Amino acid sequence: MADNIHPIFDSILSRSEKEKMLHQKSCVLWMVGLSGSGKSTLAKGLESVLHEKGYLTALLDGDNLRSGINNNLGFSEDDRYENIRRAAEASKLLANNGLITICSLISPTEKIRQMASGILGDLYTEIYINCPVEVCEQRDVKGLYAKARRGEIKNFTGIDAPFEEPANADLVLNTAENDLETSLNDLLSFVLPKINYD
Ligand code: PPS
Repeated sequence: MADNIHPIFDSILSRSEKEKMLHQKSCVLWMVGLSGSGKSTLAKGLESVLHEKGYLTALLDGDNLRSGINNNLGFSEDDRYENIRRAAEASKLLANNGLITICSLISPTEKIRQMASGILGDLYTEIYINCPVEVCEQRDVKGLYAKARRGEIKNFTGIDAPFEEPANADLVLNTAENDLETSLNDLLSFVLPKINYD
C-alpha cells in the first residue's frame, strides 16, 4: 500500500445492516475449475434462479474482468495472481455491500486460492467445478484447447500451464458425471441455506 492512505472503516451502513435491508446473507461463491468445466454456465444458471427468488447478486467472470478492469493482464503465473487478487478485492467490496457475489475464475493454484481466501475471510466459499481436462478438451466450446494444441495459445491451463486440484473446496460438482440440471440443483441446495436471512 502507498504511504499516506487512510481507509474509511466506519461506513454509514455496516454489512449486516445492508444484509438486513436486502433480507439476504451475503457471501462470495468462488467457482474454480478448468476452462470448459462449466463454471460460467453454472454461475449464470445460479444467478438466474437466485434473481427469480428475489436475491440481489453480482457475477464476476474471468473473461469479463479481463476485458475491463484486468485488461492489462495475461496468463503468466504473476498475472493470474494479480487477476485473482483484483477479483477478490472487487468481490469483497460487493459482498460487504450485501450482495451475493458469484465469481467464476479458473484460479488454478492453491497459492492463488489461498490468497483469495485470505482477502475474503469468512465471506469466501470455494466451489470446485470438477471435470477432467480430457472432457473439457472434448467439449472445447470456445475452440481454445484446439488452439493451445496447435501452439497458438501459450500457457493454456491444463495443457501447458498447471491446474492444481482444489483440496479444500466447500462443495465439489462433477460436471462430467452429472448433467447441468443436477449440478445446478446441487449448487442451489448448498447455496440457499447460506444466503437465507431468517
Ligand atoms: S485465471 O487463471 O483464473 O487467471 O483465468 P481467468 O481469469 O478465469 O480467465 C480464463 C478465461 O480466459 C480465456 N483464456 C485462457 N484460459 C486459460 N489459459 C489461457 N492461456 C487462456 N487464454 C485465454 C478463457 O476463455 C477462459 O475462460 P473460461 O470461462 O475458463 O473458459
